[in-house]
Amino acid sequence: MMAVLCLALIPFVFLLLVTLLPHANAVTRKPIVIVPGVMGSQLEARLHKTSSSHMYCYKNYDKWYRLWLDMDDILPITQNCFKENIKLHYSTSTGRYSDTEGVDIRVTDFGNTTGIETLDPNIASASYFDVLVEYFVKLGYTRGLDIRAAPFDWRLGPAELLERHYFDALRSLIESTFASQGNRKVTLLVHSMGALVSHYFLTTFVTENWKDKYLDQYVTLGGVWAGCSKALNALISGDTDQIFKLSSRLYVRPLERSFPSDYWLLPIPSNDTWNTSVVLVTTPTSSYSAYDIHKLIDKLNYPNGPVMYRGVVKSTPRPFLPPNVTTHCIYGYDLQTAESFHFGDINSFPNGKPDIGYSKGDGTVSLRSLRVCQKWEGQQVWPVKSYEMKGADHFGMLDDRDVLKIIENLVVSSN
Ligand SMILES: *[C@@H]1O[C@H](CO)[C@@H](O)[C@H](O)[C@H]1NC(C)=O
Ligand SMILES: *[C@@H]1O[C@H](CO)[C@@H](O)[C@H](O)[C@H]1NC(C)=O
Ligand SMILES: *[C@@H]1O[C@H](CO)[C@@H](O)[C@H](O)[C@H]1NC(C)=O
Ligand SMILES: *[C@@H]1O[C@H](CO)[C@@H](O)[C@H](O)[C@H]1NC(C)=O
Repeated sequence: MMAVLCLALIPFVFLLLVTLLPHANAVTRKPIVIVPGVMGSQLEARLHKTSSSHMYCYKNYDKWYRLWLDMDDILPITQNCFKENIKLHYSTSTGRYSDTEGVDIRVTDFGNTTGIETLDPNIASASYFDVLVEYFVKLGYTRGLDIRAAPFDWRLGPAELLERHYFDALRSLIESTFASQGNRKVTLLVHSMGALVSHYFLTTFVTENWKDKYLDQYVTLGGVWAGCSKALNALISGDTDQIFKLSSRLYVRPLERSFPSDYWLLPIPSNDTWNTSVVLVTTPTSSYSAYDIHKLIDKLNYPNGPVMYRGVVKSTPRPFLPPNVTTHCIYGYDLQTAESFHFGDINSFPNGKPDIGYSKGDGTVSLRSLRVCQKWEGQQVWPVKSYEMKGADHFGMLDDRDVLKIIENLVVSSN
């Protein structure tokens, strides 16, 4: 009898829950726009080349295909075609960069998250923002509507992103997200080099009034605020970490040297970051701090390097300016992080493999760069809060439950 009664009650209780819950628990979700890090946006290409240095490379391909990343295209032989297509070319007469002749390049699905969730959908290890985006979708977000992304051509520096209208596109994306979500202010969520890109946007591209109107807050994950010495190693002797595991250092180095983004990521000297007593590179005859990077680049036998470096430094005159937006700065610490590079014998510079000196950081970026945002407390009227996550890795933090929970608390509220 009791059991029958209970069973009979179920539909009623269910009905009660369904009608009561939405009212008792109205959930507000702040719209999110994501700016990813270096190498963190898929790139698509289309080919109409008149020549190629390799007879086995396609010259014509009129459909957009995924240039970055298709693991099959960076195997020992196919990588020659890939490298030719993705390289940038600097002109000393105009001071501008161009793509390889006959190659068009664009990002995948600007505004949606597709192009940043994974770099190569066929390879699990190439996943990037997928866990984070899925986490917010489970909380009620919808891809392309209130969780969106602004992928960018991560080969470029600030001047080229400006020239190719990336910052216009980012501004329009934030405005249209705001408008389509009932005039709710947007949370700008950035990772790694996305911090440099978005910081440039906030401090040089949009006005104070614009930020007040459209942005709720700036949430930064592992921001490379003052650069990263790993980028220095890539320029000097080539870096095959992560993606290019199958290639040799000297094979990928010309590619890394051709991207202005690599110069943008170099350590930015200051008393609070890499000061004159922090040695980044030594050879038997010289030692270099972040203040000496221009001298170091002069020694690399890469004729365009010095002018490319100067161009980026000139485009980013005030890197540490407070963004004047409510800021939540989340980063890992206490992991061994490669910071300095030592060439024991003069013949090993710059082509040999250096000995590495370590400092603390998030495994990729040194703490002195990650915590630049702390300085903004007291430099701007908007709140700044830092979250130091012990042991959170630069990339692993995107899948870290504690980090996701912090972001959730910043963007989802029930009232
Ligand atoms: C965004 O991409 C997802 C697939 O990743 C798709 O299901 C969704 O319809 C897209 N949203 C918009 C608004 O285009
Ligand atoms: C931030 O606000 C201060 C004080 O109003 C102002 O001097 C500064 O130029 C602003 N910075 C940016 C990046 O707009
Ligand atoms: C940097 O620190 C040195 C030594 O403490 C000091 O002499 C110099 O004025 C500082 N520079 C700046 C820009 O604060
Ligand atoms: C440079 O920074 C280190 C910390 O990394 C500090 O111990 C040292 O005093 C600083 N030197 C100058 C000249 O500011």
